[in-house]
Amino acid sequence: MNAADNIFITLNKADLYTAIKGKKVFAIIDRNVADYVPKDIVSPEKCYYLTSSESRKTIEAVEDISEFLIEQGADRDCFLLGIGGGITTDIVGFTAAVYKRGVHFGLLPTTLLAQVDAAIGGKNGINVQHYKNMLGTFNTPDFVVINPKYTFTLPDGIWHCGLAEMVKTFLIADRVRYDFVVAQYPDFRENERVLTRLIFESVRIKTDIVHRDPHEEGERRKLNLGHTFGHAIEKCDRTVMHGEAVSIGIIIAAKISQRLGLLSPQDLTRLIKDFQKMHLPVVSPIPARALFDAVSKDKKVFDNKIKFILLTSIGSVRIEELELEQLRHLVDDL
Ligand SMILES: NC(=O)c1ccc[n+]([C@@H]2O[C@H](COP(=O)([O-])OP(=O)(O)OC[C@H]3O[C@@H](n4cnc5c(N)ncnc54)[C@H](O)[C@@H]3O)[C@@H](O)[C@H]2O)c1
Repeated sequence: MNAADNIFITLNKADLYTAIKGKKVFAIIDRNVADYVPKDIVSPEKCYYLTSSESRKTIEAVEDISEFLIEQGADRDCFLLGIGGGITTDIVGFTAAVYKRGVHFGLLPTTLLAQVDAAIGGKNGINVQHYKNMLGTFNTPDFVVINPKYTFTLPDGIWHCGLAEMVKTFLIADRVRYDFVVAQYPDFRENERVLTRLIFESVRIKTDIVHRDPHEEGERRKLNLGHTFGHAIEKCDRTVMHGEAVSIGIIIAAKISQRLGLLSPQDLTRLIKDFQKMHLPVVSPIPARALFDAVSKDKKVFDNKIKFILLTSIGSVRIEELELEQLRHLVDDL
């Protein structure tokens, strides 16, 4: 199934062989999925194994990979293949952008989150002092091969992180699909056919938005729904995973939207009930007002104002510029 020019959603492992045929491949692989790499695809000395954690998504990881590539004699015509979750795909996308001023790369995302979001759209990022994605580039891979079956081995919490990003995408643009996910939860988790369809639709929505606004100057900002407070939660409580933080951030954004009169109280109540049904967290471990220092350092802040994503109904959002002070006031008792 072809979700966009270079994004293949397939249950067939052989499709990866076709994608990398004729390339000088060096694989950067999440240690936890080392067994997923077909043994005959890359020789062992050309594989670099990465420990995936937010504290490792830093410039040091990029340096270590670059040292490995130099030692292995990787020229400008080498090809990086990133295999793993969103942390791996972010690090590989960034490394490919800067190694020898840029080399080609492809991705094999293995978490649901990376399949529906992190590997799609050509953004990457690494953290600085635990502030999320402070260094990053726009760098589109030559291909993304998505095999939904890889998600079957994900631990519960990590699978739900991916569900949070998928639900976010449908909340932005597809009420019908959102309703379907809520109604069918969790039956589609290991149903190849339905899961493949949902991943396809989620990827399609994101790639359509990215095509219209590749450098996030307008509509693409909508995909940041839940991320302003989500990133602040990740900065302040390192035990919270990205998808969990996004889930809580969406509920904070929904509460703000309701306070501004944009979202009906009924929709807010329904959203919270739906998230609880799907085991997506809704309560911040830290009061929203205590997150403000981190919010004020968000990449989207200019001149004490922030472009904030608000929900107007289930399936539709709008971008609004809010004064930081106004936002602080709106979340004072959350
Ligand atoms: N660039 C973007 O557009 C974008 C979008 C969304 C998120 N992100 C980034 O993605 C990151 C989160 O990604 P993530 O949730 O995939 O985290 P991750 O890469 O750390 O993966 C989560 C865990 O799952 C393990 N794992 C991976 N695949 C597995 C599999 N198939 N079976 C069992 N375990 C597996 C990993 O080893 C890790 O322990 C964050 O850093 C976030 O900022 C980037």
